[in-house]
Amino acid sequence: MALRFFIFIAFCISFVLSEFCPKQCDCDMSNGLNRAICVDQNIIDINVGVSKAVQVYSLKHNVISELDNFCFKESGYTALKLLDISYNLIFWIGLHAFSGLEKLIYLNLSNNRLRYIPSDLFWDTPQLEHLDLSSNVFESLKNEPFIMHTKLQILNLNNCRIRSLPERLFTRLPNLKKLDISENYVVILSENVLKPLNKLERLEMWSAYWQCSPDFIAIETWIKSKGINYQNQCTKGPKRSEKIISTVSLEKAPVDLSTVWNTTVNKNETTKVTESKRPLTPLEKFDREFSAIQALVMGLEMGLAIGIVGTYVWLRRFFSCARFSCRANVRRRTRRLQRSDAEMRANLLWSTIINPDVETPPTAPNRRPPGGVSNTTDGARHADAIRVPNRSETPPPPYNECCINI
Ligand SMILES: *[C@@H]1O[C@H](CO)[C@@H](O)[C@H](O)[C@H]1NC(C)=O
Ligand SMILES: *[C@@H]1O[C@H](CO)[C@@H](O)[C@H](O)[C@H]1NC(C)=O
Ligand SMILES: *[C@@H]1O[C@H](CO)[C@@H](O)[C@H](O)[C@H]1NC(C)=O
Repeated sequence: MALRFFIFIAFCISFVLSEFCPKQCDCDMSNGLNRAICVDQNIIDINVGVSKAVQVYSLKHNVISELDNFCFKESGYTALKLLDISYNLIFWIGLHAFSGLEKLIYLNLSNNRLRYIPSDLFWDTPQLEHLDLSSNVFESLKNEPFIMHTKLQILNLNNCRIRSLPERLFTRLPNLKKLDISENYVVILSENVLKPLNKLERLEMWSAYWQCSPDFIAIETWIKSKGINYQNQCTKGPKRSEKIISTVSLEKAPVDLSTVWNTTVNKNETTKVTESKRPLTPLEKFDREFSAIQALVMGLEMGLAIGIVGTYVWLRRFFSCARFSCRANVRRRTRRLQRSDAEMRANLLWSTIINPDVETPPTAPNRRPPGGVSNTTDGARHADAIRVPNRSETPPPPYNECCINI
């Protein structure tokens, strides 16, 4: 009974003391080391509850922005050997941030926002051998040791926007074997920068910005003479042209066609080419695009259009006359008729004025001059002749005329 109780107590104690892997992380063993991988979890602090026994700790792709002094020591992560805090937002690291990490060998701080680190930042990590600081922003470096460390062997400063390499930069890295300063904006290099690196075995320096001056070429030959594994930047012809192209793609500088194209082509061809490339005026464009068939079709279309319009106009007039517009014509005709009627009356009136005898009362025979009968009959006849066409309208013939005719 006592034994059972003891076992139960021991179980409880072990349960309380045992730690679990936090939900943001995956915990496993890697090469015999306790590994915790807490990737892409929006972690803002290095301590998310991972066991203190962690030896390989990855906090990649999180949002850590600062590493406070003693942060690892206070969390108890003193067993760390490999630490990866790449792809975070770290812009500040306390001078004693790595305090307590005495077993740390590998530290990856690439792809952060570091602009400056104190030279003695890695004083607290004496075993550090491999440091990756690539893709940070160490734009302007002071003429002082970048890092002071006696054991560091591999340093990566790739793509850190470094503009110049001051001479005292690598004076305190006596054991550095591998250095990568590729893809920075450094233009000139002094031999004195590399001289302190006595144990350097490999140097990466690829960049589009090196000025291949005789001085630089001399330094390259010096590097080679030291037995350093290094790929020349300047000596080879094709490499040079490759660099020019890459510079163009980076800076979008105006391209000198003579370096890119084969300009030794036939003069006549080139003139033709330039001519065809000249932007055409609207008229020229029209001229070019206008073929004979098009012209024919266009003429046919235009003729057809005119015919249709003409037919329409004619038909419209025709039909409108038949329907209502012709009422105006009718009115006009009646008006014309009325006018002719009025003229006729005026004529009649006029004729009566000319021949006053016409209207004379029946007593008129007295007034007639003796012997002038033929005369009067002539005049009467004349008046009659005038009246003939409109007999229906004329007043009844005068009396004296009737008398004469009788
Ligand atoms: C450091 O981390 C970056 C990004 O995660 C990775 O590309 C790089 O290979 C790492 N460096 C080393 C030396 O493993
Ligand atoms: C340039 O073009 C000319 C004619 O097209 C040709 O004869 C010559 O070999 C070319 N040069 C190069 C470098 O391609
Ligand atoms: C260019 O064309 C002209 C006629 O258009 C001809 O006389 C001349 O020989 C040509 N030149 C070459 C280099 O082909």
